[in-house]
Amino acid sequence: MAYPTISTQAPPIEPKSNGFGPSTQSVHGGRSANPYNAVTEPIIQTATYTFADTAAVCAYKDAYLMGDAGGVIEYGRYGNPTVSAAEARLAALESADDALLYASGMAAITSVVLSMLPTGSHIVLTDDCYRRTREFALTFLKRLGIGCTIVPMGDYQALEDAICPETRLLISESPTNPYLRVLDMERFVEVARRRKVRTMVDATFATPVNIQPLAWGVDLVVHSASKYLAGHNDLLAGVVAGEAGLIASLRGPLGVLGGIIDPNNANLVLRGVKTLALRVEQQNQSGMKVAQFLEAHPKIEQVWYPGLSSHPDHRVAIQQMKGFGGVVSFTVRGGLEATSRFIDNLQLSQIATSLGGTESLVIQPALMTYYEFSPEERAGMGIRDNLVRLALGIEDAQDLITDLAQALAMAP
Ligand SMILES: Cc1ncc(COP(=O)(O)O)c(C=O)c1O
Repeated sequence: MAYPTISTQAPPIEPKSNGFGPSTQSVHGGRSANPYNAVTEPIIQTATYTFADTAAVCAYKDAYLMGDAGGVIEYGRYGNPTVSAAEARLAALESADDALLYASGMAAITSVVLSMLPTGSHIVLTDDCYRRTREFALTFLKRLGIGCTIVPMGDYQALEDAICPETRLLISESPTNPYLRVLDMERFVEVARRRKVRTMVDATFATPVNIQPLAWGVDLVVHSASKYLAGHNDLLAGVVAGEAGLIASLRGPLGVLGGIIDPNNANLVLRGVKTLALRVEQQNQSGMKVAQFLEAHPKIEQVWYPGLSSHPDHRVAIQQMKGFGGVVSFTVRGGLEATSRFIDNLQLSQIATSLGGTESLVIQPALMTYYEFSPEERAGMGIRDNLVRLALGIEDAQDLITDLAQALAMAP
């Protein structure tokens, strides 16, 4: 059987050090030739791969045992060309050597941590982080004999004090959910390097357009690619990017833990990411305009947006970030019910958890995320009853503001 030969029409574009901007990287980063000269990457929807004969099986096994299978893949859990193409694009966007895609953001976080940490080790996690990351650390890791200390975001002395001889990894998030705290990457990395521990940052809310943690010396960057990277509220995916050896050490465990992404979803990530820089630029601008509008509105109590000078991390945000993102958190004057009524009056923003897609989504965290807790418990966790998290899509900023204004006008 004759297979098409690999064309050299479209040589691979080096993902690193090529000086391209984020929009060019979104479209071309990591691109390599495909056998069909197709402009877009082919979707290879297969569970497994065939060998011509037994000799080919043995040649592959010998090569694999020597550490280089020469691009031959045995089974879908160990690799897929469409997934590899998406990984190369995401690595280029992060200026990373390599990247690994997973079935979801949580699959990425749990697989990376499980792959890196032995029993008896310890991690330090900053607070105000994604609720399921904290839950994973405090329940699953604890059960496996891996300790976790949670320290206040922004307290670098507490971060350092929490490091013990067993500590292997510092994990942080930036900006955080829901108060959009911004990590000072320089201080975070300085502490970690001095104390000889690795670092991982969940930069889902920032995207590589607004900050590249690896460029600040962070070891691993993770994203829920379900959010801005894929960008259309239509799939779940996760990604980790970093230095070649570190990512290679995570590839084998992914084949065991099994949280792989489906090739069709990998293709949707590839497609979605092409407009990442355009979308994020629009969301950065809308975020700023909406935050300024809300801060000036008499029915709004407080606004959290790193682009506002009132935000506790504004200084570090303007020093380290290119834009402040499309999520704005705020409290509405009045209590739980008045806030729910404001949300119910919104016409454009849909009530749904998640963020980073083309459609604006809004939640009242007290009800959507912390429903099972009492008001006192929620207050203890810093979740105010009248808190709103608005994740802007790509609608026109003026339309979003007009909609917020009418919903606030109807609020008591
Ligand atoms: C900051 C952050 N990290 C990780 C996750 C988990 O991602 P996924 O829903 O893709 O598993 C989320 C999800 O909301 C998130 O907001």
